[in-house]
Amino acid sequence: MTKTKKIAVIPGDGIGVDVTQEAMKVLENIQKIHDLPLDVRHFDYGAERYLKDGTTMPEDQVEDFRNNYDAIFIGALGDPRVPDMTHARDILLGLRFKLDLFANYRPVKLTDRKLCPLKDKTEVDVDFVVFRENTEGLYVGMGGNFKKGTPDEIATQEDVNTRKGVERIIRYAFEFAQRRNRPKVTMSDKSNALRFGHDLWLRTFEDVGEDYPNIEKQHIYVDALTMQMVKRPEQFEVIVTCNMFGDIVTDLGAQIQGGLGLAASGNINPESTSMFEPVHGSAPKYAGKNVANPLAAILTLGLMLDYLGFSEANALVEKAVVQAISTDNTTRDLGGKLGTKEVGDFICKKITEFAS
Ligand code: NAD
Ligand code: IPM
Ligand code: MN
Repeated sequence: MTKTKKIAVIPGDGIGVDVTQEAMKVLENIQKIHDLPLDVRHFDYGAERYLKDGTTMPEDQVEDFRNNYDAIFIGALGDPRVPDMTHARDILLGLRFKLDLFANYRPVKLTDRKLCPLKDKTEVDVDFVVFRENTEGLYVGMGGNFKKGTPDEIATQEDVNTRKGVERIIRYAFEFAQRRNRPKVTMSDKSNALRFGHDLWLRTFEDVGEDYPNIEKQHIYVDALTMQMVKRPEQFEVIVTCNMFGDIVTDLGAQIQGGLGLAASGNINPESTSMFEPVHGSAPKYAGKNVANPLAAILTLGLMLDYLGFSEANALVEKAVVQAISTDNTTRDLGGKLGTKEVGDFICKKITEFAS
């Protein structure tokens, strides 16, 4: 019998709460029908808790997640009442760093051509994955201020790139390409301007690439990458890039697959507890209004189930999402008329139908 998988759920802030509720409804529905051995626990970390008692995440929580959980599902973090994002840095970035979730896996896949803003592009043209380095770069929080708040202020923000860190994400991208029969890996940097950090990326890509003679290698500067993602997205299979550029290009990637309401992601450490979250944020203006699109969260749930070894459950989720889109059982952002909850209900209904 498969061992019970333990999942921690952090709905977080804003629409994170709304979309997580739907993803969990879908999970309960799948569990009822397919009897998946899952043990789900909820955690209230987020702005509300932080404002109430000052807790971002208790000291021992990371250890608990690392030792006792197989995966974490997180909705979104970000609240206008906490403008400096202290809680989000501790929770979201804290988990990425402390669990060493070095591979941020962000698939860009168009499910229905009617959602693509690019002229004449179809499902076969927009189908690639981005691996964003997730533990280094400009995100490490090294730097500081001098003469803060004065006209002479100096602010520095260090861009940290280690050979080990760069090598492992590039290797992970090549391994993924090999496993999934993707014929090409594209590495994107800005090594023409950033002659230290990104020269390391370029040299590492050339070195690691030698171990994968059957995979085509492409190097592209990040400014040109954004242009090519719009002009000829069909040329991409697997893109690997640094933390900052990965953040930016995956919002662009989200839009060419139909919008942030459809973009799923996983923060992976193959040897530890991994974390799954939609690419979108907490969209505060939509919070609690039953308008947020829950499909990114539901597809993220699918990624998590796939990662935990329940690939059939993921296939059901994907099939139900494709049907919701093709029949316009969607929220306003995708041109539909349903609310967040009704889309969740539709997905549950389809999954039940598939089983009978
Ligand atoms: P956002 O992704 O929250 O929203 C940008 C816009 O995209 C929204 O105004 C909305 O029009 C659209 N959108 C996003 N998700 C949607 C959905 N599910 N359904 C329908 N429309 C959707 O980005 P933002 O406005 O830049 O950030 C808001 C807050 O979220 C900030 O505090 C930011 O730091 C945070 N944030 C958190 C995460 C995360 O937790 N992973 C990711 C991005 C941003
Ligand atoms: C993302 C988000 C985060 C990031 C923010 C909320 C810190 O934009 O997951 O894409 O920059 O990584
Ligand atoms: Mn982002």
